[in-house]
Amino acid sequence: MKIAIIGGGPAGLYAAILLKKQRPQAEITVYERNRADDTFGFGVVFSDATLDNFEKYDPPSYRRITQEFAYWDDIAVHFRGTVHRVGGNGFCGCSRRTLLLILQERARELGVTLLFETDIDDEARFADADLIVLADGINSRFRDNHIEHFQPQIDLRSNKFAWMGSTKPLDAFTFIFQETEWGPFIAHAYQYEAGRSTWIFETDAETFQRAGLEGLNEQQSADRMAEIFGWFLDGHPLLINRSMWRNFPMIRSQRWVKDNMVLLGDAKATAHFSIGSGTKLAMEDAIALADAMAQASTVDAALQTYEHGRREEVEKIQHAADVSLVWFEHVDRFWDFDPVQFAFGVMTRAKAITYDNLTLRAPEFVREVDTAFAKQVRSKGFDVDLDKPTAPMFQPLKLRAMEVANRAVVSPMCMYSAKEGVPGDFHLVHYGSRAIGGAGLIFTEMTCVGRDARITPGCTGLWNDEQQAAWTRIVDFVHANSAAKICLQLGHAGRKGATKLMWEGMDRPLEQGGWDTISASPLPYFPDSQVPREMDRAAMDRIKREFVAAAQRGEACGFDMLELHCAHGYLLASFISPLTNERTDEYGGSLANRLRYPLEVFEAMRAAWPARKPMSVRISATDWAAGGITGDDAVAVARAFGEAGVDLVDVSTGQTVRDAQPIYGRMFQTPFSDQVRNEARVATMCVGNITTADQVNTILAAGRADLVALGRPHLVDPSFTMRAAAWYGADVACPPQYLPGKEQIFRNSVRDRQDFEDLKIKGKPKTRAELKAEATKPLAAE
Ligand SMILES: Cc1cc2nc3c(=O)[nH]c(=O)nc-3n(C[C@H](O)[C@H](O)[C@H](O)COP(=O)(O)OP(=O)(O)OC[C@H]3O[C@@H](n4cnc5c(N)ncnc54)[C@H](O)[C@@H]3O)c2cc1C
Ligand SMILES: Cc1cc2nc3c(=O)[nH]c(=O)nc-3n(C[C@H](O)[C@H](O)[C@H](O)COP(=O)(O)O)c2cc1C
Repeated sequence: MKIAIIGGGPAGLYAAILLKKQRPQAEITVYERNRADDTFGFGVVFSDATLDNFEKYDPPSYRRITQEFAYWDDIAVHFRGTVHRVGGNGFCGCSRRTLLLILQERARELGVTLLFETDIDDEARFADADLIVLADGINSRFRDNHIEHFQPQIDLRSNKFAWMGSTKPLDAFTFIFQETEWGPFIAHAYQYEAGRSTWIFETDAETFQRAGLEGLNEQQSADRMAEIFGWFLDGHPLLINRSMWRNFPMIRSQRWVKDNMVLLGDAKATAHFSIGSGTKLAMEDAIALADAMAQASTVDAALQTYEHGRREEVEKIQHAADVSLVWFEHVDRFWDFDPVQFAFGVMTRAKAITYDNLTLRAPEFVREVDTAFAKQVRSKGFDVDLDKPTAPMFQPLKLRAMEVANRAVVSPMCMYSAKEGVPGDFHLVHYGSRAIGGAGLIFTEMTCVGRDARITPGCTGLWNDEQQAAWTRIVDFVHANSAAKICLQLGHAGRKGATKLMWEGMDRPLEQGGWDTISASPLPYFPDSQVPREMDRAAMDRIKREFVAAAQRGEACGFDMLELHCAHGYLLASFISPLTNERTDEYGGSLANRLRYPLEVFEAMRAAWPARKPMSVRISATDWAAGGITGDDAVAVARAFGEAGVDLVDVSTGQTVRDAQPIYGRMFQTPFSDQVRNEARVATMCVGNITTADQVNTILAAGRADLVALGRPHLVDPSFTMRAAAWYGADVACPPQYLPGKEQIFRNSVRDRQDFEDLKIKGKPKTRAELKAEATKPLAAE
C-alpha cells in the first residue's frame, strides 16, 4: 500500500506514525514544505484525557512527549486586581517545535519517509497512491482546490488575536483580563517548558484600532503588549515568531473525503484557541483515521467510516469552542461584574464545567461565588445569610412588590385539557402539585384572551366569568397551600390558531370545528394551514381590549404576576418577526414599526394591571432562520419593552416558521438570555433543555439569567425544587401534610451527597500534575 501525506504538522505526522505501525509494509511518505525544525508557534496544550489517548495509541511517542511536558492543574483568572485560582484541571503544555521533532523522529524510526522543503501543488503526482492524506493546515490548498466538493464554510471571527511567547514562568493556565484606555485586552497564557510560556493576546476590532495596533510590525505590537501586561510580565520579554495579528477562522467542511483523499486536522475543521484544542483535534483525527483503516477492508470504506464516525465528536468540540469564543468576543458584557462572578463565568463558559463540578474541585471558590451572589440579593433588601449563603437557586428575588422565595420556575405549558376555555380538575391538580413541589414561581399555560384566540379547542381562556371562577380556585389553592407565586400568561394564537391538540397533530389545522384566524400578514403556517386574515385597525383595537379585559380578570383571580406572550409565532410574535410580518403600514418594515402593536397591547395591559405587581414578556430571541430575528434584535426588543415598564424578559426562541433550524443542546437558549440580560440590562428568565439543579445554579451564578424556568422536567417531577433543596441543604416551603416526606428526603440527602462526593473524588484518577507533584515530593521524615 502507498500512502502520501501532504503536511508535516501534528495531524500528518501522527497519521504517518499510526498507519505505519498498523501496516509496516506500506510505503508512507510525508511531504512538508518547511524545513524539519522550521516551525512557527510556541507551545501546544493537551488535557490529561488526550494524553491517555496518546498513551494507548503509541506509547513510545507518548513517553517522549510527556518527558518534555510542563504540567499544571490550576486555572488562574486575573481581573480588576483580583486573582481566582481553580484546581483539578489537568493540563499539559509542550513546545510545538519539540512535539514535531519527537513525532518526526518516531516516524523515521518506524520507516516513514519524510521529505522536507517539498511544496506540493496538486495531487496528480500521487496517481499511484492508495490513500492521500490532506493535512496541509488551516489554509489548505487542497481543500481550496476542491472547494466545490469539500464545501468549506469559513466564519472569520471579529476579534483580533496574536500568538507570542515569553520567558515568564507560569504555574497555572492564566487568563488576564486587562482594562486599558482603549478597551479590554485578554491574555491566554501557559508555560510549556522550563523558562518558556505561550501568550495569546486577544481584543475586539475597535479596541485594536484605538490602541493603534493596525500597521505596527510584529516587534512594535509585542512592545505595545509588553506595556499593557508589563505589570504581570515582571521584566520578562515577549518573544515573536510569525506573531501577526489575525482573525480566527472557524472552518467547517461539508465533506471530508473525496475519492481516496481525506482532510485531517485544521484543513478540515478548526477549534478556537480558547479551548486549546487545535493540536488535540489534529492528532485525534489521525487516531480516528487509523482506527477506521484498521477496521475496514477497503480504503473507500475506511474513509467513510472515518468521516461518519468522527464528525459528531468534532462538531461537539467545535460547538464548545464556538460558545467559548463568543464569550470572549463579548467579554465587555461582564466587565462590571463582581470579580468572583466574572471568574465563575470564565470557568463555566463552555458548559463542561459546572457549579457542582467546581464545588467538588474548588469548594472555597464556590463559597466565594455564593457569598457574592448573596451580597447582591442582600443589597436588594433581603435579609439573607452571608456566612452560610445558600446556592443561588435558593436565593429570593423581588420584582416590584412580588417576592419569590427561590429562582426555580415552572415554565408555561399548555395542557390542552380545558373545556370551552375553562380549566378543570386536571389543572387544579397540575398547578397545585407543582406549587407544593417548591418552585418559587409558576406560570400558567398560554391562556387565551378570546374564544378565537385559542391555539386548540383544549386551550384555557380568561374571557368569561366561568373561566375566571375556575382560575380563582386554582390561584387560591396555590396561595393557601404553598409559598409559590403564580403568573398568568396571556396570549392570542394568531395564525397558529384553530389547530389540533398536541397529541393529535401539533400546529396541524383542525379538520372540523375550526374558527377564522388572524395575523400580522396573510401567511399560512403550513402550506395547507388556514390563510389568516391580515389584522386591520378595528381588529387591533378589539384584540387589545380583550387583552386588557383578561388582565383585569387576572387581577380579580388574584394572580401575582402577568406575562404577555410575544413568542413562538403567535399573534403578537407574528408582528415582531420580519418572516411573518410583510405589512407596508406603520406596523411593518423596521423593528420599531413591527414592535408598535405588541408594545401598544403591553402598555394598555400595564396601565390596567396594578402597579405593585410585575409584568413579563416572553420573546423568541431568534427565529433560527435566515432573515429572521437575531440575538441583536432581541436586545432591541427587550430594551423597548424595558422602556415600556416590563420587569422581566422571558427569553425563549423559535417556533416562528416551520423551516427553522434550531441548534438544540443542553441549555441551548441560555446564551440568548445572557445576551439580553447583559446588553439590554433587564432582568431575564431563561428556559430550554435545562434539566438539573446544577445547571440552574451554574446559569444564575454566572449572571446569565435572574430566574430559570423548566418545562418538561416539571411534567415528570412536580417536586424538582424540593429535591434540589434537599440536595443543597436549602430551605423550601412545604405544607404540613407533607412534612414527614420533606424531613426524610432532607435527612437522606446529606448522606447521599456525601456518598456521591466520596465516589466522585475516589473515582477520579489523579491528574498528571498531581502525580508529578507526588513523585517529586521529598519523603517525609520518619
Ligand atoms: C501562526 C500560528 C501559530 C500557532 N501557534 C500555536 C501554538 O503556539 N500552540 C497551539 O496549540 N497551536 C498553535 N497554532 C494552531 C495549531 O498549530 C493547529 O491547530 C495545529 O497545528 C493543527 O495541526 P495540523 O497538522 O492540522 O496543521 P499544521 O500544524 O498547520 O500543519 C500543516 C503543515 O502542512 C504544511 N503544508 C501546508 N501546505 C503544504 C503544501 N502545499 N505542501 C507541503 N506542505 C504543506 C505546513 O507547512 C504545515 O507544516 C498556531 C497556528 C498558527 C496559524
Ligand atoms: C407540553 C408543552 C406545552 C407548552 N406550552 C407553552 C405555552 O403555553 N406557553 C409558552 O410560552 N410556552 C409553552 N411551552 C414551551 C415551554 O414553556 C418551554 O419554553 C419549552 O418546553 C422549553 O423548556 P424545557 O426544555 O424546560 O421543556 C410548552 C412546552 C411543552 C412541552
